[in-house]
Amino acid sequence: MLKGKKILLGVTGSIAAYKSAFLVRLLVKEGADVRVIMTNDACDFVAPLTFGTLSKSKVFTEFSEKSSGNWNNHVELGLWADIMLVAPATSNTIAKMANGICDNILLATYLSAKCPVYVAPAMDLDMYQHAATQKNLKSLKEFGNNIINVGKGELASGLEGEGRMAEPEEIVSILQKNTKKKTKLPKLAGKTVLISAGPTREAIDPVRYISNHSSGKMGFSLANVFAEYGAAVTLVSGPVGNLELDNSINRINVDSANEMYQSCMEHYKKCDIAIMSAAVADYTIEDPSKQKIKKQSDKLSLKLKKTKDILAEMGKKKKKQLLVGFALETNNELNNAKEKLKKKNADLIILNSLQNPESGFQYDTNQVTIVSNNNIKKYQLKHKEAVALDIASYINGIL
Ligand code: CTP
Repeated sequence: MLKGKKILLGVTGSIAAYKSAFLVRLLVKEGADVRVIMTNDACDFVAPLTFGTLSKSKVFTEFSEKSSGNWNNHVELGLWADIMLVAPATSNTIAKMANGICDNILLATYLSAKCPVYVAPAMDLDMYQHAATQKNLKSLKEFGNNIINVGKGELASGLEGEGRMAEPEEIVSILQKNTKKKTKLPKLAGKTVLISAGPTREAIDPVRYISNHSSGKMGFSLANVFAEYGAAVTLVSGPVGNLELDNSINRINVDSANEMYQSCMEHYKKCDIAIMSAAVADYTIEDPSKQKIKKQSDKLSLKLKKTKDILAEMGKKKKKQLLVGFALETNNELNNAKEKLKKKNADLIILNSLQNPESGFQYDTNQVTIVSNNNIKKYQLKHKEAVALDIASYINGIL
């Protein structure tokens, strides 16, 4: 859950600074917005250009830039951050942080920051064990900072022991754990959830098909959120690009609307919650050609027949399940959503309108309204992961 988080990484003068380049890569991959501040000594180990390239942002090394006369506002930087991470943190920087010394932009920013601060020490064994360092680390903890434990192993000096900076993967996972699960959704734990996602493909012949622009992002985000809160999730997905999915999720890949129907109906019997977010083709080719259709006449007609409406079938067979559908509309949105709710015997319809800018298929964001028999709740435009959390919170509230 580091997506969209503003992370300020302070790099100080240790050989472990090279590991921080990997750290930036991992954080950026997680979707975090990373800015880097380096001390002068850090610049001797790794060039600012490395961090600038990896973070795709300006790197801060001085209070002001002599050539342009620009002043780097450390107060603004400190207030900008959701998380500040000093990695590697040398014994020198730790000592200064513990004593309020402010002789570089990294330390000034630290003193201005109001966000949680993480410190990942890196130094030689004896420096780490020295009473002064231990006292300084204790002070930092008492100030409310989070100290990331050092690792044991071979050190740059050739000595063996404690003092290595934690590995970048470990640091990222600590940040992830600590930023996760702010919202409590206890009723989702242990629930069996079925989710459909993505488009379907209806074959015209062995090489061609009819499909739509659904990316699957909304369904995958929903699957991840429900899994995160302890639900047992089955995701029936049409063909989508490379999307991240929690390891615990049972993913079933399908192609056509009929395959999606078969798979969903099989899992529907046993589920507590079914969320149909897939953009299922409403029509399929009546008689797909076994051979590739050759180019002949100027015009070609394809005969289509209706597919089975999975959501509506589920509505007919509904017992204890909570049934949730989506409605993508271009006009008369609320009325159409209410009609779908009734016609398909769903408990909730998640309405998104193509009239809203930055909503729908092509975007990472969505603006939804949750429609039930007795309630209409409109949400702001948000990242699809945040929309998924809103939907999960709403469901948690009505279970
Ligand atoms: N849906 C489904 N099976 C289908 C078609 C749609 O399960 N064959 C589900 C979708 O996953 C979605 C809901 O029905 O949850 C509404 O889909 P939508 O395409 O908006 O509505 P339709 O019923 O197809 O009506 P129309 O296209 O005429 O608006």
